[in-house]
Amino acid sequence: MSNIWDEREESMELDEYQQRMIDRLLPIIAGKKVLDIGCGYCNIELELADVAGSFTAVDDSKIRVQKSQERCAKYDNINVQLADENLLPYFDVVFSFRTFQHMEKKQFKAYCKTAYRVLKNNGIFIFQVVERYLDYQPIRGKITHLAHTEKEISKALKMFDEVKYEREIIPRKKRNFPWLWIEAKKC
Ligand SMILES: C[S@@+](CC[C@H](N)C(=O)[O-])C[C@H]1O[C@@H](n2cnc3c(N)ncnc32)[C@H](O)[C@@H]1O
Repeated sequence: MSNIWDEREESMELDEYQQRMIDRLLPIIAGKKVLDIGCGYCNIELELADVAGSFTAVDDSKIRVQKSQERCAKYDNINVQLADENLLPYFDVVFSFRTFQHMEKKQFKAYCKTAYRVLKNNGIFIFQVVERYLDYQPIRGKITHLAHTEKEISKALKMFDEVKYEREIIPRKKRNFPWLWIEAKKC
């Protein structure tokens, strides 16, 4: 069955926003096993393949997975797979970028549980969401945009031992985006 993300065009060039995620990952991923939830076209993986120990990149769009597999084929340490496949519990870092804001809250909560399950002790879960406004702009094309509040996130992350929140305002033409960055540690 096709997925709305199959039809949506997105750049295969690294963009200034992905660079923000890269800046957060760089100090912590050297030699580590890293999982990306909602990898898109693996722009981030391709940029960091030489630094990380390995990447498992998952997405629920078959077309994006297929394209990313082609793009990453020359790297033995990047494995791209469909998001519904089983994940083994062995990651040091789980991250997600510009993905949870397009997901129903129930699914977001399920991914928080998965992140906790697949992280090793001392592992870290890093992600970004949009904190406000998007509930008032629920559909763009067929893609939903949902805001997540700190309260909802802290509930979904209750099994983690330490959770840190950081706010960043992203300037946009029509309306600035209030991003919330989260780092949750499993001790
Ligand atoms: C805006 S794109 C971001 C891609 C990439 N993280 C980036 O920043 O370039 C959102 C991605 O999330 C994926 N996605 C949406 N819902 C998902 C789900 N339930 N599980 C896994 N991936 C999902 C989409 O297929 C899409 O590739």
